[in-house]
Amino acid sequence: MFEMKDEWLAADKVKREDYTKVLDIGKEFLYLSYADCKNTGTTEPEIIAATEQGMIDYSKRVCEMPAKIGIHPMPDSLMHAMPAYMPEQYACGIKWGSNFPTNKKMFNVSSTNCQIIYNDVLTGWPLAIMDASWITELRTPATAIVGIKYGGNLDSTTWGMIGCGIQGRNNVRMIKHILKKLETIYIYDVVEEAMDYLIEVDQPLVDAKIVKCHSYEEIVKSAQILTSATPIAHVPNPPVKDEWVSKGQTLICLDCHTVYADSIYKRADKYYQDSVPEHELLQTYGTYPWGFPTITGETGAMAAGLVPGRESKDELVIVNNVGMASEDMMCAKIIFDRAIENGIGTKLPL
Ligand SMILES: NC(=O)c1ccc[n+]([C@@H]2O[C@H](COP(=O)([O-])OP(=O)(O)OC[C@H]3O[C@@H](n4cnc5c(N)ncnc54)[C@H](O)[C@@H]3O)[C@@H](O)[C@H]2O)c1
Repeated sequence: MFEMKDEWLAADKVKREDYTKVLDIGKEFLYLSYADCKNTGTTEPEIIAATEQGMIDYSKRVCEMPAKIGIHPMPDSLMHAMPAYMPEQYACGIKWGSNFPTNKKMFNVSSTNCQIIYNDVLTGWPLAIMDASWITELRTPATAIVGIKYGGNLDSTTWGMIGCGIQGRNNVRMIKHILKKLETIYIYDVVEEAMDYLIEVDQPLVDAKIVKCHSYEEIVKSAQILTSATPIAHVPNPPVKDEWVSKGQTLICLDCHTVYADSIYKRADKYYQDSVPEHELLQTYGTYPWGFPTITGETGAMAAGLVPGRESKDELVIVNNVGMASEDMMCAKIIFDRAIENGIGTKLPL
């Protein structure tokens, strides 16, 4: 339980007054679609800052966020229930997010889909039911950016993206916010068309040259920093061999321990997880059959300076961010407030 500080309560009441001008709380809520969320004009730097704060607040344990529970209807699929309460931001709610890797092939719909029920802190009634796929598409690359900010060599001229789906493409578009000297983006996907599509659509949007790799070995040996977003295997069979990974590299995993051989994690100089309890829960589902390496600290603790981040150019640093509801609620708050201010969304009766 968190004590509501007087100044938070006062500020929340002011905000709530704005909400009540638009919504009859307890009788109706705002529905925000994917397009509505996007149309709030929330920018990538705003999402990155909100995500970093969500990671820091979690690691300082100044918010309430239990580890996500899940169900797994299809092979390698996941549906996660992700609640969080951010006292300082007067934001609370729950994300219900899923990833079904076979969706594209079988049903021609995206593998990831997410919704948020965003609640009133003072009464618990829903203020909004909103799409959260847009938030997830942006806040997940933002978590990678936070990992790179504190764990990467920021003068790197090369970066690689493994997995070129929705996450891969958004990571490619957003990497410019952290790697200012980037010259070459290497990409790799087991599906050739996914790489071709990324180059066709996203090359015009980024300055660095995007280069297609033909194997894991090629991309891992080419890029100083690597981010991976491939389907999370329930029984990992990592394709990347230890001898391809060098000192000084930074590996950002958005897909648990799916890609890299276990010995790479175990020999890393520094290894971070966004939420140790989240990963411990995943371990009970079998995601980490070889156990965890020594954990240097949480990513948010690194961002807050509570544990050291990268300390020398030669360190091998690995950051494993599975994604947290604290990040989602920080972003949902911005989107909901903007929607209220700008009359975006559809009011529906409860
Ligand atoms: N960490 C987080 O916060 C977070 C958030 C959202 C999604 N994810 C995870 O990111 C991953 C990707 O999500 P998405 O929405 O981009 O999915 P997507 O289906 O749009 O893209 C996945 C891509 O990976 C490729 N792929 C499949 N197997 C591969 C392999 N062995 N090697 C290389 N590429 C491979 C596919 O061809 C596809 O292009 C999923 O595992 C998802 O659960 C993580």
